[in-house]
Amino acid sequence: MPQSEHDKKLFELRFERSRSDLFDMLDALYGQLPSYAAFCEALAGVMAKAWADRPEDLKWLDMRRDLSPDWFQRPEMIGYVFYIDRFAGDLKGVLEKLDYLESLGVTYVHFMPCLKPRPGDSDGGYSVMDYRAINPGYGTMADFEGVAAAFRSRGISICIDLVLNHTAKEHAWAEAARKGDAEKRDYYLLFDDRKLPDQYEETLHEVFPDTAPGNFTFDKTMKKWVWTSFNTHQWDLNWANPKVFLEIAEVMLFLANKGVDVLRLDAVAFMWKRLGTRCQSEPEVHMILQALRAVSRIVCPAVLHLEEAIVGPAEMLPYLGRGRHDGKEGNLAYHNSLMVQFWSSLASRDTGMMTHVMNSHFPEVLTNATYANYIRCHDDIGWAITKADAEAVGLSDTAHRAFLSDFYEGLFPGSFARGELFGFNPETGDKRMSGSLASLAGLERAIETGDKVAIDRAVERIIMGHALIAGFSGIPLIYMGDEIATLNDESYRDDPDKRHDSRWIHRPAMDWETVARVGRKDDGSPEARVFHGVRLILERRRATPELHAAYPLRILRSPHPGLLTFVHEAPTGPLLCAFNFTENELALPGSWVLLQGAEGFHDALSDAPLRLVDGNIAMKPYESLWIR
Ligand code: GLC
Repeated sequence: MPQSEHDKKLFELRFERSRSDLFDMLDALYGQLPSYAAFCEALAGVMAKAWADRPEDLKWLDMRRDLSPDWFQRPEMIGYVFYIDRFAGDLKGVLEKLDYLESLGVTYVHFMPCLKPRPGDSDGGYSVMDYRAINPGYGTMADFEGVAAAFRSRGISICIDLVLNHTAKEHAWAEAARKGDAEKRDYYLLFDDRKLPDQYEETLHEVFPDTAPGNFTFDKTMKKWVWTSFNTHQWDLNWANPKVFLEIAEVMLFLANKGVDVLRLDAVAFMWKRLGTRCQSEPEVHMILQALRAVSRIVCPAVLHLEEAIVGPAEMLPYLGRGRHDGKEGNLAYHNSLMVQFWSSLASRDTGMMTHVMNSHFPEVLTNATYANYIRCHDDIGWAITKADAEAVGLSDTAHRAFLSDFYEGLFPGSFARGELFGFNPETGDKRMSGSLASLAGLERAIETGDKVAIDRAVERIIMGHALIAGFSGIPLIYMGDEIATLNDESYRDDPDKRHDSRWIHRPAMDWETVARVGRKDDGSPEARVFHGVRLILERRRATPELHAAYPLRILRSPHPGLLTFVHEAPTGPLLCAFNFTENELALPGSWVLLQGAEGFHDALSDAPLRLVDGNIAMKPYESLWIR
């Protein structure tokens, strides 16, 4: 389509806006290479072409979002995460679930990996063999475009995964490399012998120590060692090669033009390698991500970048852009610490470390960025607790991590949880954890024993988890089934492609029968209580403008070790959020609440006045309050 003068001008303006964000990074990354000038020219061509191809309605969306850049920070944003096959069979089936999602108030959905994966075990779809095709089991790219348009018309944004660190070994680039194509060999990190790999291994960690130990895999055809940080079938890309940047930028814009709103950039921490380091979160990783962000801001500013870096608190923040690139790297990043600390506080009935971590690593306000908040997701939980953070509250990090693993595996005396070990590393003693929200929060055990009080407590813990992510700054992400308290599912053990990976225990198919049952009425069952509890929380979130993520969020020192408290400093007045992480009733002194700036005692979560007894607000076990 010939471009209008207006479109050309708009592109130029956006190019001007991000020129230095883009080229300063590229100069530093690739400027020394003889091919640099040709690379820059090719990149400019890719961007101009993608802009010319961008559908008219998406150009309007670009304009809309450029004019309201806080669109994703608003309390109306509510996310839901699902596997297409496990939620609805295929893409056409997803359309039939639109009403359900809308009834929950969802405005953002993450379709778990949906690009064409390698056959057989594909790490849940994260081993991609074609970035330009949809998983044939789900439908076609045309189906995807249709679904994206339908969701868009209902005000729901779509997030999909773009795996940046690796491709499947069956990807066309890898196939060509195996056949001897020298250019494509340079897309990956290949070694003739073990000399360098051994040197790197000295400081590298293992992602899947039990099922894919080591970081290199020998390829018999090429007779070379291939860098494989994750599984042996996932070949790490060589981001020091500008051709890789160019290819991925093109793919990114291709997907944006199909109607993707949010690109979840997978496993980004691992993208740059440096001898003598863990090869995670190296400065070049941020330079690449900032440059990719600049590319999107020029061609498709409607699109957000969600960076998946599951790292410790201090390491995570730069993924939201810091310093010169404040607000110009990831618009979203997973708040892994909030999730880890939730489970830690729940086990220990003490929020001391949580308060310390949130206070010492995270700023009160973020520019043009916010957190993707979750309590559970499709992955395991790694206990990302540093020595310094544990010691700051008088704990030993190793002992506390061991306690958490034992607690959530259900081994620790008095534990309510039922989880499954993941990624046990006998060398470091590191143990990660799989399990659904409901099972980890105690519902599975409680139902088995039939203990009514234990069931109540488990339901309350689940609901508090939902209230926490809905009441924090950012987009709450509900993982499919967690709104109906789905329990662990052992059936993955019967599937030879899955049995080695306990993460499948918390990835069962959606239980639509339960949805239908609890949707009809609250029959008092745990699933119904959770479902109606979640619905109410989300409804109240939408009605609570103080939760806008552009307002500062200040973590408070609580009057009781079992309470987590923070305040949203909204211009209309503060909103004080309090969460009781214990099974006991706790007294929240009314005078303390007033000292934090609250002007009254109205709970925005239940939309009811709070009753003071002897000057205290009595908080029930695991109760959440959003005091206005
Ligand atoms: C991300 C995904 C995880 C996957 C890994 C490798 O961490 O969330 O499921 O195994 O990347 O692609």
